[in-house]
Amino acid sequence: HLSNLRGLKSGTLRLSSVTTAKYFIPHLLGPFCERYPGIDIQFTVANRKQVIERLEQGLDDFYVFSHLPQGLDLEVIEFMSNDLVAIAPASHRFSQKQQVSLAEFCQEDFLIRESGSGTRYATEVFFDNLDVKPNIKMTIASNEAIIHSVLSKLGVSILSSHTLAFGEIHDVKVINVESLPIRSKWSFSWIKSKALSPIAEVFLDYVETEGRDIMKSAIKL
Ligand code: PGA
Repeated sequence: HLSNLRGLKSGTLRLSSVTTAKYFIPHLLGPFCERYPGIDIQFTVANRKQVIERLEQGLDDFYVFSHLPQGLDLEVIEFMSNDLVAIAPASHRFSQKQQVSLAEFCQEDFLIRESGSGTRYATEVFFDNLDVKPNIKMTIASNEAIIHSVLSKLGVSILSSHTLAFGEIHDVKVINVESLPIRSKWSFSWIKSKALSPIAEVFLDYVETEGRDIMKSAIKL
């Protein structure tokens, strides 16, 4: 019956996502908005902590995480893999190596996301589990600013591979570091006790039935 309603729906879909998912969500929204021109979108991009705060306040229909918050009663659908990879400038000696040991990687200046970031959280858990410490040089509250800092030879970092996947980013290389990548998955989640709006239902159906295929054709990496 959903297909009968194509193009006739109107209202607002509210989504909030962590920053590493902002590279793929618009590629999902393009075909969706073409099909349902009457639906307006409010798309909020923030770090993990801020998205959790929005979830706790019930501000949006869907929340996109790769590290789900604990202790909240959520419905969750896993959407797509999200690997966090080591990056360095193409001119760095690491770019020429088949593999870099973790000890060697940790000697480099390391650029880390701000506290509250899921990328930072995953990176800290990774280093803690292996009982090693990165040589933190700068805290930077943006994936793009980290990439530019890597380009500017300020250090190396660990970011979602999707930060590199959609644009033309030359001169930053993914480095094969021992024990990396950190593997995670993006999920769409929503509050179990909150009924989805009819528009949110239409979006969920779209994500579940077509979303993954649409993403496969959009991702270049
Ligand atoms: P971030 O989140 O944008 O807060 O780093 C990414 C994630 O949760 O993996």
